[in-house]
Amino acid sequence: MSYPLNDEQLMIQAMVREFARKVVATTAAERDRTKEFPADNLKQMGELGLMGMAIPPEYGGEGADTVSYVLALSEIAYACASTAVVMSVHNSIVCESINRWGNEEQKKKYLRRLARGKVIGAFGLTEPEAGSDPSAQTTTAEKDGDVYVVNGTKRFTTTGKNSGLVIVTAKTDEAKKHHGISAFIIEKGTEGFIVGREEDKLGLRASDTTDLIFENCRVPAENLLGKEGDGFKIAMTALDSGRIGIAAQSVGVAQAAFDAAVKYAKKREQFGQKISKFQGLRWIIADMATEIEAARQLMLSAAAMKDAGKNFTAQASMAKLFASEMVNRITGKAIQMFGGYGFTKDYPVERFYRDARVFTIYEGTSEIQRLVISNHILKDKRKP
Ligand code: CAA
Repeated sequence: MSYPLNDEQLMIQAMVREFARKVVATTAAERDRTKEFPADNLKQMGELGLMGMAIPPEYGGEGADTVSYVLALSEIAYACASTAVVMSVHNSIVCESINRWGNEEQKKKYLRRLARGKVIGAFGLTEPEAGSDPSAQTTTAEKDGDVYVVNGTKRFTTTGKNSGLVIVTAKTDEAKKHHGISAFIIEKGTEGFIVGREEDKLGLRASDTTDLIFENCRVPAENLLGKEGDGFKIAMTALDSGRIGIAAQSVGVAQAAFDAAVKYAKKREQFGQKISKFQGLRWIIADMATEIEAARQLMLSAAAMKDAGKNFTAQASMAKLFASEMVNRITGKAIQMFGGYGFTKDYPVERFYRDARVFTIYEGTSEIQRLVISNHILKDKRKP
């Protein structure tokens, strides 16, 4: 299949595809079993320039466009969804936020290390009682001379344990509601910054998801990202980009499940012929291919809008909504095509099915995406 991609984008896609299938894919099933963090994959990805794809070259990144980035991320997700989510949060949320909102000192200090994958980034927005509604967060940051004293607990932090720095949101002024939320770059090793319990998850098992606890954690004031009160805007802007990344993860996992199912259908014989000869199955294959292609085009168009400097909030949510629901349908159908074998660990489709389940939940549930899309359409009537 061909898309309107330029030579550079095609080259990046081909390079990442080769790396992902030769290197990353080979350990994905084992990691799913052992929950071993893909540190070795990420190290090589840093060397290949995949950990700072959009960071400008003067800060050690590749200066690649978003289209190239989502193509690369899809290829990594095709091979290992756990590795892909780490790459996604690191690139779309952490690198991009520091590049966009950071001052010169912060960019110089952090971007080069992030771009080479020497340090992995995480994002602490969600709290035990503030998920879909992050403005209800209760983590606080009180100014005390040249530090902010941070107190609170963040939940479901992707790479909470294995990251070296985290962008954390906290209230600096309770009275100002979401305008009183600020964002901080907090490094591991800062006193009072504790990694809490690690979740035992259905899928994405090699990517750690943890609580982060801040107990009188003294963060240098120079680590404030943007201005006081910018935190909610920083988080929302980051999530716009992150959501295109979740669409890319969805497309990658769906393509992997589809390819495995088609290969199986061409080999498996029942009633004296290959099951791919049955019309019932051929129609399912056609529908699956069409759905994946539709999601891919939504992903590419959201990425292209971002590259063109247009507002892409609604497109990112549409891509995330459609692609994440699509991959749940596709992985379910792939298991059905494998029959009983699909339900076992002899084939990878049961892992794809489990990995895909969270895509309609994290970085904004499907319901939140529908809210964002409808708010965008009904702009003048946003509040009920
Ligand atoms: N870009 C920039 N600013 C934005 C924005 C965007 N996309 N969306 C909203 N804002 C700004 C608005 O302009 C507004 O600012 P002003 O008050 O200055 O005008 C402010 O934010 C509030 O906007 P709304 O009134 O629309 O906010 P709301 O509270 O009604 O709704 C929401 C916001 C869409 C529901 C939002 O809260 C949201 O996206 N919720 C889901 C959160 C989420 O995705 N969480 C996942 C966290 S990360 C994760 O999953 C873990 C991980 O590590 C991967």
